[in-house]
Amino acid sequence: MTMEERQEIEAELAHYPTKQAVCIDAMKIVQRHRGWVSDESILAIAELLEMSPSDLDGVATFYNLIFRRPVGRHVIMLCDSVSCWIMGYERIRAHLTEQLGIEFGETTPDNRFTLLPIVCLGACQHAPALLVDNELHGDVDAAKIDILLEGCK
Ligand code: FES
Repeated sequence: MTMEERQEIEAELAHYPTKQAVCIDAMKIVQRHRGWVSDESILAIAELLEMSPSDLDGVATFYNLIFRRPVGRHVIMLCDSVSCWIMGYERIRAHLTEQLGIEFGETTPDNRFTLLPIVCLGACQHAPALLVDNELHGDVDAAKIDILLEGCK
């Protein structure tokens, strides 16, 4: 862990009643710096927050915006829950996988995009919905996806 990462995590500690309560923010800080959270980072964060690495890893697994494997420069997360299923999820998935040439869980060879599924984004009234780099987009269709992809350099 770099000094900068450590200082940012320690600054968060002032806002929480326990060290463990900072764990998600701590992983987000490391992810912002490195793009993902490696096993080594889990160990370092766990030590700093006086948690067991397995407990911290459990939180990371549960919280699906923490990436435990390297990802591309842009991460697309397509909602695969019920409203989006009804409103055209399969069409959107097919368009994305065709345009990107990858399946869920994969990263394009140029490291530009990673495609992942995600549960309901709370935007069911605008299904189908997806996140591009944590930014929510609703009522997506093939044309909108093409514009979104084009905007990701
Ligand atoms: S089901 Fe997709 S946003 Fe709720």
